[in-house]
Amino acid sequence: MDSPEELAPAAVPTAEAHGPHADLAAGLLATPATASPKYFYDARGSALFEQITRLPEYYPTRTEQHILSTHAVALAGEIAPGATVIEWGAGNCDKARQLCSLLAPARFVALDISVECLREGARRLQAACPAVQVSALAADLTAELALPADVPCERRVVFYPGSSIGNFDPPQALDLLRRMRRLLGRDGALLLGVDLLKPVPVLEAAYNDAAGVTAAFNRNLLRHANRLLGSDFAERDWEHHAFFNAAHGRIEMHLRALRDLVVRWPGHARAFRRGESIHTENSHKYSLGGITDLLARAGFSQAQPWIDAQGWYAVLLARP
Ligand code: AVJ
Repeated sequence: MDSPEELAPAAVPTAEAHGPHADLAAGLLATPATASPKYFYDARGSALFEQITRLPEYYPTRTEQHILSTHAVALAGEIAPGATVIEWGAGNCDKARQLCSLLAPARFVALDISVECLREGARRLQAACPAVQVSALAADLTAELALPADVPCERRVVFYPGSSIGNFDPPQALDLLRRMRRLLGRDGALLLGVDLLKPVPVLEAAYNDAAGVTAAFNRNLLRHANRLLGSDFAERDWEHHAFFNAAHGRIEMHLRALRDLVVRWPGHARAFRRGESIHTENSHKYSLGGITDLLARAGFSQAQPWIDAQGWYAVLLARP
């Protein structure tokens, strides 16, 4: 995918968009300002995200785990041992352990943008599952992906859990699903976790936890930006703002300036007025019909859904 990040503006003067992390710089200079959620995930951001997954308000992770363990036998019946599982955004590889003991794949390829977290996770996974050949690959999953030549082409299973697909606008999600479809060939399968539409208070609580972990996770993007760009963001000048945008069917996260301020980094300065914000994340929520339709358009003609009793979350096994 050569196109800009999902949250970057469509047109940025080329004079602004050069150098390392040009997309980050360009987004921060745009109006409204944006930053791709991939910039959450430095080592600290990945650790904060792990904490989020254990929060009482954040239901997706535990609901997905519950669905996977409830339907473990059915799932194992669908995917014979010896497959090659490719996890898209594996993080600390915690989910991988559950999946490896369930599916007994020959090979597990963990892909993530945050290398530190991934290497450690892959090491632990390999120790826990000695029969599986584990490899870890640092990859920007918003860009085109080349797998190492020794990854078998047959019986690939792409595992894309956690509703990470929600970070993409539907057209980009479609594009991503099509890329996964190409990676799979004819005999592969996609195991996809998707957060479903539900009452707004439940959705909004999940992104506004009482302990403030999500706020810290959001603000951590500023620290990460400081390291990448040499900018001078001060975390205390920014507040976390998350809400459900009903028109788009998504949670939006923003960082809102608490006062008029100027952020500077080599060669650039960006003024923010008090109340002006940086849009840091979209998290789209789907209906079962909506996600099934998107999968069909991406070339997955069959999709077996498993859903929790409350109808909050879906795990789908999709095949070409
Ligand atoms: C990893 C994209 C699925 O959207 O719920 C959690 C990230 N952001 N809390 C999500 C996230 C704030 C998460 N995804």
